Amino acid sequence: MTFSGPIEAGNTQMIDPFGRHVTYLRVSVTDRCDFRCVYCMSENMTFLPKKDLLTLEELDRLCTAFVAKGVRKLRITGGEPLVRKNIIWLFEALSRHLRAGALDELTLTTNGSQLPRFAGRLADCGVKRINVSLDSLVPERFKRITRWGNFEQVMQGIDAAQEAGLHVKINAVALKGVNDDEYDEMIRWTHGRGMDLTFIEAMPMGDIDGDRSDQYLPLSVVRARLMDKWTLTDIPFKTGGPARYVEVAETGGKIGFITPMTHNFCESCNRVRVTCTGTLYMCLGQDDAADLRAPLRSDESDRLLSDAIDEAISRKPKGHDFIIDRRTNRPSVSRHMSVTGG
Ligand code: GTP
Ligand code: 5AD
Ligand code: SF4
Repeated sequence: MTFSGPIEAGNTQMIDPFGRHVTYLRVSVTDRCDFRCVYCMSENMTFLPKKDLLTLEELDRLCTAFVAKGVRKLRITGGEPLVRKNIIWLFEALSRHLRAGALDELTLTTNGSQLPRFAGRLADCGVKRINVSLDSLVPERFKRITRWGNFEQVMQGIDAAQEAGLHVKINAVALKGVNDDEYDEMIRWTHGRGMDLTFIEAMPMGDIDGDRSDQYLPLSVVRARLMDKWTLTDIPFKTGGPARYVEVAETGGKIGFITPMTHNFCESCNRVRVTCTGTLYMCLGQDDAADLRAPLRSDESDRLLSDAIDEAISRKPKGHDFIIDRRTNRPSVSRHMSVTGG
Protein backbone atom coordinates (compact mmCIF):
# COMPACT_ATOMS: atom_id res chain seq x y z
CA MET A 1 0.00 0.00 0.00
CA THR A 2 1.37 3.45 -0.78
CA PHE A 3 -0.10 6.65 0.52
CA SER A 4 0.80 10.21 -0.14
CA GLY A 5 1.85 12.29 2.84
CA PRO A 6 0.12 15.42 4.13
CA ILE A 7 -0.95 17.63 1.24
CA GLU A 8 1.22 20.52 0.21
CA ALA A 9 -1.53 22.95 -0.73
CA GLY A 10 -2.57 25.68 1.68
CA ASN A 11 -1.30 24.18 4.91
CA THR A 12 -2.72 26.95 7.04
CA GLN A 13 -3.94 26.25 10.56
CA MET A 14 -7.68 26.41 11.09
CA ILE A 15 -8.70 29.24 13.40
CA ASP A 16 -12.34 30.26 13.55
CA PRO A 17 -13.81 33.78 13.96
CA PHE A 18 -13.81 33.34 17.74
CA GLY A 19 -10.11 32.50 17.87
CA ARG A 20 -10.69 28.79 18.50
CA HIS A 21 -8.14 26.43 16.95
CA VAL A 22 -9.69 23.44 15.22
CA THR A 23 -7.50 20.47 16.08
CA TYR A 24 -10.05 17.65 16.44
CA LEU A 25 -11.88 16.05 13.50
CA ARG A 26 -14.70 13.55 13.91
CA VAL A 27 -15.42 11.54 10.79
CA SER A 28 -18.61 9.58 10.34
CA VAL A 29 -17.76 6.81 7.88
CA THR A 30 -21.29 5.43 7.55
CA ASP A 31 -24.78 6.46 8.63
CA ARG A 32 -25.74 2.80 9.04
CA CYS A 33 -25.78 0.89 12.27
CA ASP A 34 -26.54 -2.62 13.44
CA PHE A 35 -28.47 -1.18 16.44
CA ARG A 36 -31.49 1.15 16.56
CA CYS A 37 -31.06 3.00 19.87
CA VAL A 38 -34.36 4.58 20.85
CA TYR A 39 -32.95 8.06 21.49
CA CYS A 40 -30.90 8.02 18.30
CA MET A 41 -32.89 6.39 15.50
CA SER A 42 -36.41 5.45 14.60
CA GLU A 43 -36.99 1.79 13.86
CA ASN A 44 -37.41 2.37 10.14
CA MET A 45 -34.56 4.54 9.02
CA THR A 46 -33.85 5.51 5.45
CA PHE A 47 -30.12 5.38 4.89
CA LEU A 48 -28.05 7.03 2.22
CA PRO A 49 -27.64 5.17 -1.04
CA LYS A 50 -24.18 3.56 -1.10
CA LYS A 51 -23.27 5.48 -4.26
CA ASP A 52 -23.40 8.77 -2.34
CA LEU A 53 -20.67 7.70 0.08
CA LEU A 54 -17.10 8.81 -0.19
CA THR A 55 -14.82 5.88 -0.92
CA LEU A 56 -12.32 4.88 1.76
CA GLU A 57 -9.57 6.39 -0.42
CA GLU A 58 -11.48 9.68 -0.52
CA LEU A 59 -12.01 9.59 3.25
CA ASP A 60 -8.28 9.08 3.65
CA ARG A 61 -7.55 12.07 1.41
CA LEU A 62 -10.03 14.19 3.30
CA CYS A 63 -8.60 13.28 6.72
CA THR A 64 -5.08 13.83 5.43
CA ALA A 65 -6.03 17.30 4.26
CA PHE A 66 -7.28 18.09 7.77
CA VAL A 67 -4.12 16.68 9.35
CA ALA A 68 -2.10 18.97 7.10
CA LYS A 69 -4.21 21.84 8.40
CA GLY A 70 -3.48 21.17 12.05
CA VAL A 71 -5.82 18.38 13.17
CA ARG A 72 -4.07 16.38 15.93
CA LYS A 73 -6.94 14.10 16.96
CA LEU A 74 -9.03 12.02 14.60
CA ARG A 75 -12.10 10.12 15.78
CA ILE A 76 -13.85 7.68 13.46
CA THR A 77 -17.59 7.45 14.18
CA GLY A 78 -20.85 6.53 12.44
CA GLY A 79 -23.57 5.17 12.64
CA GLU A 80 -21.48 2.23 13.66
CA PRO A 81 -18.08 2.73 12.04
CA LEU A 82 -17.09 -0.93 12.21
CA VAL A 83 -19.98 -2.02 9.95
CA ARG A 84 -18.47 -0.11 7.03
CA LYS A 85 -16.94 -2.62 4.62
CA ASN A 86 -13.13 -2.85 4.77
CA ILE A 87 -12.93 -0.11 7.42
CA ILE A 88 -9.62 -1.45 8.73
CA TRP A 89 -8.06 -0.26 5.48
CA LEU A 90 -8.84 3.33 6.52
CA PHE A 91 -7.32 2.84 9.99
CA GLU A 92 -4.21 1.31 8.42
CA ALA A 93 -3.93 4.20 6.01
CA LEU A 94 -4.42 6.87 8.67
CA SER A 95 -1.98 5.26 11.08
CA ARG A 96 0.87 6.64 8.95
CA HIS A 97 0.12 10.08 10.39
CA LEU A 98 0.62 8.71 13.91
CA ARG A 99 3.95 7.20 12.92
CA ALA A 100 4.98 10.47 11.25
CA GLY A 101 4.11 12.42 14.42
CA ALA A 102 1.55 14.51 12.51
CA LEU A 103 -1.32 13.11 14.60
CA ASP A 104 -1.50 12.60 18.38
CA GLU A 105 -4.49 10.30 18.44
CA LEU A 106 -6.44 8.03 16.11
CA THR A 107 -9.52 6.62 17.80
CA LEU A 108 -13.14 5.61 17.39
CA THR A 109 -16.55 5.62 19.04
CA THR A 110 -18.33 2.31 18.62
CA ASN A 111 -21.28 0.33 19.95
CA GLY A 112 -18.85 -2.54 20.55
CA SER A 113 -20.68 -5.19 18.54
CA GLN A 114 -17.88 -5.72 16.03
CA LEU A 115 -14.97 -5.46 18.46
CA PRO A 116 -14.54 -9.23 18.83
CA ARG A 117 -13.50 -9.18 15.15
CA PHE A 118 -11.58 -5.91 15.03
CA ALA A 119 -10.04 -5.05 18.42
CA GLY A 120 -6.64 -6.61 17.70
CA ARG A 121 -6.32 -5.01 14.30
CA LEU A 122 -7.29 -1.60 15.64
CA ALA A 123 -4.56 -1.88 18.27
CA ASP A 124 -2.09 -2.81 15.51
CA CYS A 125 -3.03 0.47 13.76
CA GLY A 126 -1.92 2.52 16.76
CA VAL A 127 -5.37 3.01 18.29
CA LYS A 128 -4.86 3.33 22.05
CA ARG A 129 -8.21 4.40 23.55
CA ILE A 130 -11.71 3.70 22.33
CA ASN A 131 -15.15 4.87 23.43
CA VAL A 132 -17.85 2.24 23.65
CA SER A 133 -21.48 3.37 23.88
CA LEU A 134 -23.31 1.31 26.48
CA ASP A 135 -26.40 2.57 28.25
CA SER A 136 -27.34 -0.39 30.44
CA LEU A 137 -25.77 -3.40 32.12
CA VAL A 138 -29.11 -5.19 32.35
CA PRO A 139 -29.45 -7.38 29.23
CA GLU A 140 -33.23 -6.95 28.80
CA ARG A 141 -32.92 -3.21 29.23
CA PHE A 142 -30.02 -3.04 26.85
CA LYS A 143 -32.25 -4.80 24.32
CA ARG A 144 -35.08 -2.34 24.91
CA ILE A 145 -32.76 0.66 24.43
CA THR A 146 -30.82 -0.62 21.41
CA ARG A 147 -33.78 -2.55 19.92
CA TRP A 148 -31.45 -4.77 17.82
CA GLY A 149 -28.36 -5.01 20.03
CA ASN A 150 -26.89 -8.20 21.46
CA PHE A 151 -25.60 -7.59 24.99
CA GLU A 152 -23.35 -10.67 25.11
CA GLN A 153 -21.67 -9.68 21.86
CA VAL A 154 -20.90 -6.20 23.23
CA MET A 155 -19.47 -7.73 26.43
CA GLN A 156 -17.26 -9.96 24.30
CA GLY A 157 -16.26 -6.90 22.32
CA ILE A 158 -15.19 -5.06 25.46
CA ASP A 159 -13.24 -8.13 26.61
CA ALA A 160 -11.52 -8.30 23.23
CA ALA A 161 -10.62 -4.61 23.37
CA GLN A 162 -9.07 -4.92 26.81
CA GLU A 163 -7.21 -8.08 25.81
CA ALA A 164 -5.80 -6.16 22.83
CA GLY A 165 -4.50 -3.52 25.26
CA LEU A 166 -6.97 -0.81 24.28
CA HIS A 167 -8.05 1.60 26.99
CA VAL A 168 -11.85 1.60 27.04
CA LYS A 169 -14.14 4.44 28.05
CA ILE A 170 -17.82 3.64 28.39
CA ASN A 171 -20.28 6.33 27.21
CA ALA A 172 -23.75 6.22 28.71
CA VAL A 173 -26.56 8.58 27.75
CA ALA A 174 -28.47 9.52 30.92
CA LEU A 175 -32.09 8.51 30.36
CA LYS A 176 -34.71 9.27 32.98
CA GLY A 177 -36.72 6.24 34.04
CA VAL A 178 -34.66 4.03 31.75
CA ASN A 179 -31.16 3.64 33.21
CA ASP A 180 -31.01 6.14 36.10
CA ASP A 181 -31.08 3.44 38.77
CA GLU A 182 -27.93 1.82 37.37
CA TYR A 183 -25.26 4.47 37.69
CA ASP A 184 -23.73 3.16 40.92
CA GLU A 185 -23.41 -0.27 39.39
CA MET A 186 -21.95 1.21 36.20
CA ILE A 187 -19.31 3.01 38.25
CA ARG A 188 -18.41 -0.18 40.14
CA TRP A 189 -18.29 -2.25 36.96
CA THR A 190 -16.30 0.17 34.77
CA HIS A 191 -13.82 1.20 37.45
CA GLY A 192 -13.48 -2.40 38.61
CA ARG A 193 -12.28 -3.26 35.10
CA GLY A 194 -9.97 -0.27 34.77
CA MET A 195 -12.31 1.61 32.42
CA ASP A 196 -13.51 5.21 32.63
CA LEU A 197 -17.17 6.16 32.41
CA THR A 198 -18.76 9.20 30.81
CA PHE A 199 -22.36 10.30 31.12
CA ILE A 200 -23.95 12.28 28.28
CA GLU A 201 -27.05 14.46 28.31
CA ALA A 202 -29.52 13.48 25.59
CA MET A 203 -29.63 16.07 22.83
CA PRO A 204 -32.68 16.82 20.68
CA MET A 205 -31.41 15.61 17.31
CA GLY A 206 -33.48 13.92 14.62
CA ASP A 207 -36.98 12.47 14.74
CA ILE A 208 -37.34 9.43 16.94
CA ASP A 209 -40.47 7.40 17.65
CA GLY A 210 -40.98 8.62 21.25
CA ASP A 211 -41.08 11.86 23.22
CA ARG A 212 -37.61 13.15 24.08
CA SER A 213 -38.65 15.42 26.90
CA ASP A 214 -39.77 12.32 28.83
CA GLN A 215 -36.25 10.88 28.71
CA TYR A 216 -34.20 13.97 29.37
CA LEU A 217 -32.21 13.88 32.62
CA PRO A 218 -29.89 16.78 33.47
CA LEU A 219 -26.45 15.64 34.62
CA SER A 220 -26.52 18.22 37.42
CA VAL A 221 -29.14 15.94 39.00
CA VAL A 222 -27.10 12.81 38.33
CA ARG A 223 -24.01 14.36 39.84
CA ALA A 224 -25.86 15.47 42.98
CA ARG A 225 -27.25 11.96 43.44
CA LEU A 226 -23.85 10.34 42.97
CA MET A 227 -22.38 12.60 45.62
CA ASP A 228 -24.60 10.93 48.23
CA LYS A 229 -22.65 7.76 47.74
CA TRP A 230 -19.28 8.62 46.24
CA THR A 231 -16.56 11.16 46.97
CA LEU A 232 -16.13 13.12 43.74
CA THR A 233 -13.28 15.56 43.16
CA ASP A 234 -13.07 17.78 40.08
CA ILE A 235 -9.84 17.13 38.20
CA PRO A 236 -8.28 19.05 35.32
CA PHE A 237 -7.92 15.85 33.21
CA LYS A 238 -8.61 16.58 29.50
CA THR A 239 -8.82 14.36 26.46
CA GLY A 240 -9.54 17.07 23.90
CA GLY A 241 -13.24 16.14 24.08
CA PRO A 242 -16.03 18.07 25.85
CA ALA A 243 -16.21 15.99 29.04
CA ARG A 244 -15.38 17.46 32.46
CA TYR A 245 -13.92 14.84 34.72
CA VAL A 246 -14.11 13.96 38.39
CA GLU A 247 -12.13 11.36 40.27
CA VAL A 248 -13.93 8.91 42.51
CA ALA A 249 -12.00 8.46 45.77
CA GLU A 250 -13.55 5.06 46.54
CA THR A 251 -12.52 3.49 43.19
CA GLY A 252 -9.64 5.62 41.93
CA GLY A 253 -11.45 5.78 38.57
CA LYS A 254 -12.73 8.74 36.55
CA ILE A 255 -16.22 9.86 35.59
CA GLY A 256 -16.76 12.34 32.74
CA PHE A 257 -19.81 14.53 32.34
CA ILE A 258 -20.81 15.78 28.88
CA THR A 259 -23.39 18.48 29.46
CA PRO A 260 -24.43 20.14 26.20
CA MET A 261 -27.82 21.05 27.68
CA THR A 262 -27.04 22.28 31.22
CA HIS A 263 -23.54 23.59 30.76
CA ASN A 264 -22.62 24.83 27.37
CA PHE A 265 -18.99 24.05 26.60
CA CYS A 266 -19.01 25.64 23.15
CA GLU A 267 -16.60 28.42 24.09
CA SER A 268 -13.77 25.92 24.11
CA CYS A 269 -14.90 24.00 21.03
CA ASN A 270 -11.95 22.67 19.05
CA ARG A 271 -13.74 20.32 16.66
CA VAL A 272 -15.63 19.90 13.42
CA ARG A 273 -17.21 16.84 11.88
CA VAL A 274 -17.39 15.35 8.40
CA THR A 275 -20.08 12.95 7.25
CA CYS A 276 -19.65 9.93 5.01
CA THR A 277 -20.77 12.00 2.02
CA GLY A 278 -18.13 14.64 2.62
CA THR A 279 -20.36 17.24 4.24
CA LEU A 280 -18.56 19.32 6.84
CA TYR A 281 -20.60 20.37 9.87
CA MET A 282 -18.92 23.13 11.80
CA CYS A 283 -21.17 22.52 14.84
CA LEU A 284 -23.04 19.43 16.03
CA GLY A 285 -26.00 21.59 17.01
CA GLN A 286 -26.43 23.73 13.89
CA ASP A 287 -27.55 23.00 10.34
CA ASP A 288 -24.98 25.09 8.50
CA ALA A 289 -22.63 22.86 6.49
CA ALA A 290 -20.15 22.89 3.64
CA ASP A 291 -19.82 20.41 0.81
CA LEU A 292 -16.29 19.03 0.54
CA ARG A 293 -17.09 16.24 -1.89
CA ALA A 294 -17.24 18.44 -4.98
CA PRO A 295 -13.88 20.18 -4.35
CA LEU A 296 -12.35 16.82 -3.38
CA ARG A 297 -13.44 15.21 -6.62
CA SER A 298 -12.78 18.09 -8.96
CA ASP A 299 -9.16 18.86 -8.05
CA GLU A 300 -6.46 16.27 -7.49
CA SER A 301 -4.09 18.80 -5.99
CA ASP A 302 -6.37 19.35 -2.96
CA ARG A 303 -6.14 23.11 -3.32
CA LEU A 304 -9.89 23.57 -3.84
CA LEU A 305 -10.50 21.26 -0.89
CA SER A 306 -8.19 23.27 1.32
CA ASP A 307 -9.89 26.52 0.24
CA ALA A 308 -13.35 25.05 0.91
CA ILE A 309 -12.25 24.01 4.41
CA ASP A 310 -10.86 27.49 5.14
CA GLU A 311 -14.07 29.11 3.94
CA ALA A 312 -16.17 26.80 6.12
CA ILE A 313 -14.06 27.40 9.24
CA SER A 314 -14.50 31.14 8.71
CA ARG A 315 -18.21 30.66 9.44
CA LYS A 316 -18.00 28.21 12.34
CA PRO A 317 -20.83 29.35 14.64
CA LYS A 318 -20.33 30.36 18.23
CA GLY A 319 -22.35 27.44 19.57
CA HIS A 320 -25.50 25.37 19.48
CA ASP A 321 -29.07 26.32 20.44
CA PHE A 322 -30.31 22.97 21.70
CA ILE A 323 -33.64 23.19 23.48
CA ILE A 324 -36.14 20.46 24.09
CA ASP A 325 -39.44 22.06 23.21
CA ARG A 326 -42.22 20.31 25.12
CA ARG A 327 -44.98 21.98 23.12
CA THR A 328 -43.90 21.03 19.62
CA ASN A 329 -41.73 18.02 20.50
CA ARG A 330 -39.68 18.87 17.40
CA PRO A 331 -35.95 18.21 17.49
CA SER A 332 -33.73 21.31 17.50
CA VAL A 333 -31.63 19.79 14.76
CA SER A 334 -33.44 17.69 12.21
CA ARG A 335 -30.59 15.37 11.24
CA HIS A 336 -29.95 12.29 13.36
CA MET A 337 -26.86 11.95 15.52
CA SER A 338 -25.90 8.96 13.35
CA VAL A 339 -25.30 11.35 10.42
CA THR A 340 -22.53 13.19 12.24
CA GLY A 341 -21.56 10.58 14.82
CA GLY A 342 -21.87 12.80 17.88
P1 GTP B 1 -12.88 11.82 24.32
O1 GTP B 1 -12.97 12.94 25.27
O2 GTP B 1 -11.63 11.76 23.56
O3 GTP B 1 -13.19 10.51 24.93
O4 GTP B 1 -13.93 12.09 23.19
P2 GTP B 1 -15.34 12.71 23.12
O5 GTP B 1 -16.04 12.72 24.44
O6 GTP B 1 -15.27 13.96 22.32
O7 GTP B 1 -15.96 11.63 22.16
P3 GTP B 1 -17.22 10.75 22.18
O8 GTP B 1 -17.36 10.15 20.86
O9 GTP B 1 -17.17 9.83 23.34
O10 GTP B 1 -18.31 11.85 22.39
C1 GTP B 1 -19.32 11.59 23.23
C2 GTP B 1 -20.49 12.44 22.92
O11 GTP B 1 -20.23 13.76 23.34
C3 GTP B 1 -20.81 12.64 21.47
O12 GTP B 1 -21.42 11.55 20.91
C4 GTP B 1 -21.74 13.77 21.60
O13 GTP B 1 -22.94 13.26 22.11
C5 GTP B 1 -21.04 14.61 22.63
N1 GTP B 1 -20.23 15.63 21.97
C6 GTP B 1 -18.98 15.51 21.48
N2 GTP B 1 -18.58 16.67 20.93
C7 GTP B 1 -19.61 17.54 21.08
C8 GTP B 1 -19.83 18.89 20.70
O14 GTP B 1 -18.99 19.55 20.10
N3 GTP B 1 -21.01 19.45 21.03
C9 GTP B 1 -21.97 18.75 21.67
N4 GTP B 1 -23.10 19.36 21.95
N5 GTP B 1 -21.81 17.48 22.04
C10 GTP B 1 -20.66 16.87 21.75
N1 5AD C 1 -28.07 12.72 22.54
C1 5AD C 1 -26.94 12.39 23.19
N2 5AD C 1 -26.12 11.39 22.81
C2 5AD C 1 -26.49 10.69 21.75
N3 5AD C 1 -25.88 9.65 21.15
C3 5AD C 1 -26.64 9.30 20.08
N4 5AD C 1 -27.73 10.08 19.99
C4 5AD C 1 -27.67 10.96 21.02
C5 5AD C 1 -28.48 12.03 21.46
N5 5AD C 1 -29.60 12.37 20.83
C6 5AD C 1 -24.62 9.11 21.64
C7 5AD C 1 -24.46 7.63 21.57
C8 5AD C 1 -22.98 7.48 21.47
C9 5AD C 1 -22.52 8.73 20.84
C10 5AD C 1 -21.95 8.56 19.48
O1 5AD C 1 -23.63 9.60 20.78
O2 5AD C 1 -24.91 6.94 22.69
O3 5AD C 1 -22.36 7.38 22.75
FE1 SF4 D 1 -26.23 3.08 16.46
FE2 SF4 D 1 -24.88 4.64 18.07
FE3 SF4 D 1 -27.21 5.46 17.17
FE4 SF4 D 1 -27.15 3.47 18.90
S1 SF4 D 1 -26.46 5.58 19.27
S2 SF4 D 1 -28.35 3.54 16.99
S3 SF4 D 1 -25.29 2.44 18.39
S4 SF4 D 1 -25.41 5.11 15.95
